[in-house]
Amino acid sequence: SFEQSLRPQTLKQYIGQDKVKENLEIFIKAARIREETLDHVLLYGPPGLGKTTLAAIIANEMGVNIRTTAGPAIERPGDLAAILTALEPGDVLFIDEIHRLPRSIEEVLYPAMEDFCLDIVIGKGPSARSVRLDLPPFTLVGATTRAGSLSAPLRDRFGVLSRLEYYSEEQLTDIVVRTAEVLDTGIDPKAAIEVARRSRGTPRIANRLLRRVRDFAQVKADGQIGETLAKEALELLQVDRLGLDHIDHKLLRGIIEKFRGGPVGLETIAATIGEEAHTIEDVYEPYLLQIGFLQRTPRGRIVTGLVYRHFQMEVPAD
Ligand code: ADE
Repeated sequence: SFEQSLRPQTLKQYIGQDKVKENLEIFIKAARIREETLDHVLLYGPPGLGKTTLAAIIANEMGVNIRTTAGPAIERPGDLAAILTALEPGDVLFIDEIHRLPRSIEEVLYPAMEDFCLDIVIGKGPSARSVRLDLPPFTLVGATTRAGSLSAPLRDRFGVLSRLEYYSEEQLTDIVVRTAEVLDTGIDPKAAIEVARRSRGTPRIANRLLRRVRDFAQVKADGQIGETLAKEALELLQVDRLGLDHIDHKLLRGIIEKFRGGPVGLETIAATIGEEAHTIEDVYEPYLLQIGFLQRTPRGRIVTGLVYRHFQMEVPAD
């Protein structure tokens, strides 16, 4: 599809995450030389950094099919059995949000990962019996924003653990330029830097901002994305110089205005600004922690002096 063609198809095309790429390249080559299935891979890190893209690349580089599902979509052991028995030898099974897999499903997954077999119970009551089913060998690629919420036995069954990091401004610029090429849109290098700078280290955000800026260029100009146009468009999109959007602002200003800068508990903040605690924790906090705008303390979250300066407010004495 169109969306797919935007995504890099090979490790070579994939920009950034050099450590992860270097390791995967070796493990994939070794598995191919031995004509074996690649060991199970756990990809973890903040949303939007390319976990799904990497899963597709792993399958492509191994020359196998990918089957995609998500933790919350698998409710009963039968759901998992249906997916696993439909795999072809060597296939990649991608489970997004694997930390949201029900516990009862995890237990079905253990023998599937370890011995490529399923123990399923047929029938009910006194006539119920357990049947062992052989599965084709497969590679499980799991993705999660929180490796810490995975149960230890599940985590231990992954042979490869890869943590994705936020991208540098230079890497994001390269991604923006690449995406603009795929979209057949001309972009000034300085405009690409401006989009990258405001993307919170996250390719998904960079590519979304690029599409919106391109809309402006098409309607307000000749379709070319120049530096001035990019800056004007990004102002209208309400992303500030650091790429913080109105939810980041609501979060930070809420802590300052209602809790004198904190400390304040996550649930309290969530209730005050009307966002889900999980969304704040998984989507908004990681970047604010990374740039030193938020700190986690045993008594709750606090904003740092950097936030007051960013909002051109006086930094309180304490
Ligand atoms: N598009 C989104 N993420 C990318 C990446 N890491 N490399 C190249 N293109 C991308």
